[in-house]
Amino acid sequence: MTHDAIAVIDFGGQYAHLIATKVRRLHVLAEIRQPDDPIERFAAYKGIILSGSPSLSSHGEDSDYTRAIYDLDTPILGFCFGHQEIAKHYGGTVVHGGREWGPADLHLRGESPVFQGLAPVERVWMSHFDSVTSVGPDFDEIGFTSLGDGGQPHRFAAIASERLRRYGFQFHPEVDDTVHGDEMIGNFVLGICGCRPSWTMEQYIAEEMERVRRQVGDQSVFLLASGGVDSTVAARLLGEALGPDRLHLLHVDNGLMRKDESRDVLQTFREFGLDRNLHFVDASEDFLEALRGVVEPEQKRKIIGNTFISVFEREARTLGIAHHLLGQGTIYPDTIETGGTKRADTIKTHHNRVPIIEEMIAQGRVVEPLAELYKVEVRELGEKMGLAHDLVWRHPFPGPGLGVRLLCGTGAAFTEGLDGIEPEATAVGAAYGLAAQVLPIKSVGVKADLRSYEHPVLVSGDAPWARLLEMAARLFKQVPGINRAIWNLADAAPRAVRPLAATVTRDRLDLLREADHLVMEGLRRHGIYGEIWQCPTVLVPLEVDGRGREYVIIRPIHSERAMTATPAALPARLLGELREQILALSGVSGLALDITTKPPGTIEWE
Ligand code: XMP
Repeated sequence: MTHDAIAVIDFGGQYAHLIATKVRRLHVLAEIRQPDDPIERFAAYKGIILSGSPSLSSHGEDSDYTRAIYDLDTPILGFCFGHQEIAKHYGGTVVHGGREWGPADLHLRGESPVFQGLAPVERVWMSHFDSVTSVGPDFDEIGFTSLGDGGQPHRFAAIASERLRRYGFQFHPEVDDTVHGDEMIGNFVLGICGCRPSWTMEQYIAEEMERVRRQVGDQSVFLLASGGVDSTVAARLLGEALGPDRLHLLHVDNGLMRKDESRDVLQTFREFGLDRNLHFVDASEDFLEALRGVVEPEQKRKIIGNTFISVFEREARTLGIAHHLLGQGTIYPDTIETGGTKRADTIKTHHNRVPIIEEMIAQGRVVEPLAELYKVEVRELGEKMGLAHDLVWRHPFPGPGLGVRLLCGTGAAFTEGLDGIEPEATAVGAAYGLAAQVLPIKSVGVKADLRSYEHPVLVSGDAPWARLLEMAARLFKQVPGINRAIWNLADAAPRAVRPLAATVTRDRLDLLREADHLVMEGLRRHGIYGEIWQCPTVLVPLEVDGRGREYVIIRPIHSERAMTATPAALPARLLGELREQILALSGVSGLALDITTKPPGTIEWE
């Protein structure tokens, strides 16, 4: 069956993917297109949505994209930058200025079908520097935002030409903060474009199985099965599509797994009847050898990805599996974050997107039945295919495993510029009755869609959870060069914190495994595992007041799609238990809870 579909033009950042998700939630297929895709690629869509852009501007020089879309008879809706481009194309003006940031009240005018069913005033989310100040003859203003305090209204916050079926919103309906954003997108997709909501998970499963059969032909698939949600769901789908004889599963113990994880994974595959061709290899020595002496996080990721492939090919030869394709549980964000679209920066290299795999993909040697889906859709698919709830709702675990959570370093302290920011950080902490210290290390974060390495701040003292989060937000806003705040669970504020030289070793991994195990057990014991989206435990090579070599950080978060995250509060009793258990582990120098939102921090450390 062919589905009615919407093209989302990706002008950068993460916006386009959020828009695509919202459209798919309406059961309409959405596909991301690049701005310079040839016009023929847009012909079959029932509607086109232009995303916002963190880097492009509509005032001044013209941006380069396939403007022939405006000659199509297809309805077009633009957000933010997309809105300004539509206004400009049809004779309006865009100026630099009129900035709005955060929530705004949108006052509706007229009876546009794109706002059907909405209240006269709607809460929307703004984030722009440029503004539309006039529109061409075909267009009407269908909404303006109030400035509050009796100020002038912001004109042209929403515009439309009903005759041309062109619409523009200055705000972002795709973010949850625009209260009825889903309804607005629904009015466009289902109403104005007339898309039939036929894209259901059942349909997707049937079509994907068919596609897999066509791609694989009479060959077999050899799937790298980590035991995580994605690769397990992929195994299930491939098994159904090809039959158990033509699916080989390889579970690799890369030495970066959690405690007893390989044992549990093999057990799970047996329970699901996926063990006909289940192979296991303990390749931990290969991985540890390849990682020996390496410190830089992106280099670690690439080495892990490459080692997976060399182990995989060696095993295929040993097992005599010829004419196979490589199966992977890659999901949509993996591709995006590796810089898989032209305008997205490389946030991080996923193990399943290293260059050697890109080459195999180009040769048609890789099968990825989930490559179009987001995590939430993969879980839905897994449940539809009969996988157990507990398995489908396991916390996500990164492909490179504990490799990203075991921080390494040369022992050098990052002190440059610290003198400048330390007093500011201390002052913010003091305003909340807390001691704030900027740590002489750097960890990864993400700001304005770009990857950044900046300092964490260690906060010691007692304060209610909401005050801690408020203080952290103030630190990120006021103090430059800070991307994380961690709350000291161990003791009073340390006097001396010293980074140590450390690389990936089995001993360090064993310690991390133990600490992570205690945290996971604790979450389960207190019945809150399911409430928390993910909870990495991280090891940082830091000596504190002359004691220990490894600082432990726990990072519980709430999230929906991992694009953003908020820190999750843990019960005081659980924190007390973890404090006792983890500080008793040999070599541990301290313990803290990460209280950072994403952005500016990422979920993982690295
Ligand atoms: P960050 O740290 O960027 O993580 O906020 C977002 C989500 O992605 C997961 N993650 C990975 N998953 N392979 C994966 O399959 C990877 O290389 C990888 N790196 C990070 C991370 O655990 C979080 O859920």
